[in-house]
Amino acid sequence: MTRRLAIPVGITATGQHYPERVVTNDDLSKTMETNDEWIRTRTGISERRWVDPGTGASELAIPALKMALGRRGIGPDDLDAILVATVTPDHVFPATACLVQHGIGATNAYGFDVSAACSGFLYALTTGASLVASGTHQRVAVVGVDVMSSILNMEDRTTSVLFGDGAGAVILERVEEGLGIIDFEHRVDGGGGCFLYMPAGGSKRPPTAETIAHKEHYVVQHGKDVFKNAVPRMAEYARLMLDRNGVAPEDLKLFVPHQANNRIMEAAAKRLELPDDRMMVNIDRYANTTAATIPTALHQAFEQGRMAKGDNVILAAFGAGFTWGGALLRWAY
Ligand code: UT7
Repeated sequence: MTRRLAIPVGITATGQHYPERVVTNDDLSKTMETNDEWIRTRTGISERRWVDPGTGASELAIPALKMALGRRGIGPDDLDAILVATVTPDHVFPATACLVQHGIGATNAYGFDVSAACSGFLYALTTGASLVASGTHQRVAVVGVDVMSSILNMEDRTTSVLFGDGAGAVILERVEEGLGIIDFEHRVDGGGGCFLYMPAGGSKRPPTAETIAHKEHYVVQHGKDVFKNAVPRMAEYARLMLDRNGVAPEDLKLFVPHQANNRIMEAAAKRLELPDDRMMVNIDRYANTTAATIPTALHQAFEQGRMAKGDNVILAAFGAGFTWGGALLRWAY
């Protein structure tokens, strides 16, 4: 069974925003026991952008969404809802979506955050599209944003070299028949929660002097366990999108995977039997920006002319939770 939306809904504009500060692998090797060669060969990352401390996710999300609105030629008042996917909200509450709504002046919109880590943008995208497809919303903005540098233990070389900060935004609207989000499928497996998480700061372990002393407010990752699960699941769900919609690998214009590790992406692309040059990669310049990897990759792919109206594009994500999924888009503009 495909998850076909009741009416065709698609992305009609994209935007992005990164902080200006570029941090190279060589920069990191000056402050921790690491080196450019290890990071590049194990992950594909050459550099990342990090905010200046004290910058909230909303401060990246707002310019990204303003860019998307500008590209579409609409104003903030034209939005009915704003969904923000993030695991690094400005505050535990209120939702970052509220800050974004206020920041752009979207007087007719409500909004909420979606917490699904690296799959957050994908889940928010199909949730937003379902709101439009229901006929109750005309235009929904979806933003994927993370300030990963705010939750990295800079003394842990196994995680701190992997992540970057950034935001990507899209506008969702009704589109022509046969275009837009054609199908999607998502899953979670909470049994994988222990492999990638932030131990303290939630209701179970509220912040105390002890949790801070033990550095429990930072990302903890068991990289190999995450890696082992990411490859088959991302590949399986991307493959499912091809197979159940009768799209041959050679008819896929672009595969846009979550950018966690070049080796994960390449293994997934191999299982999809994709021709060369059909995968979008930006991890080299921006590292893993969690919820922002897919919308920024989409924005850059479109800007680079790598897809056009009617092209088949597959999105696939895997991340903390475990959460994962895939979506087939037929590019709408
Ligand atoms: O986006 C959310 C989902 N996250 C992912 O999908 C990430 C999945 N996991 C991965 O991408 C990989 O597991 C990592 C990139 C995190 C690690 O790569 P790995 O090939 O699994 O390396 P490893 O953890 O097995 O470490 C190999 C060696 C170790 O040294 P020993 O024990 O062999 O002496 C590490 O201590 O590399 C060492 N190492 C480093 N060396 C230099 C770990 N981090 C670094 C580092 N620089 N930054």
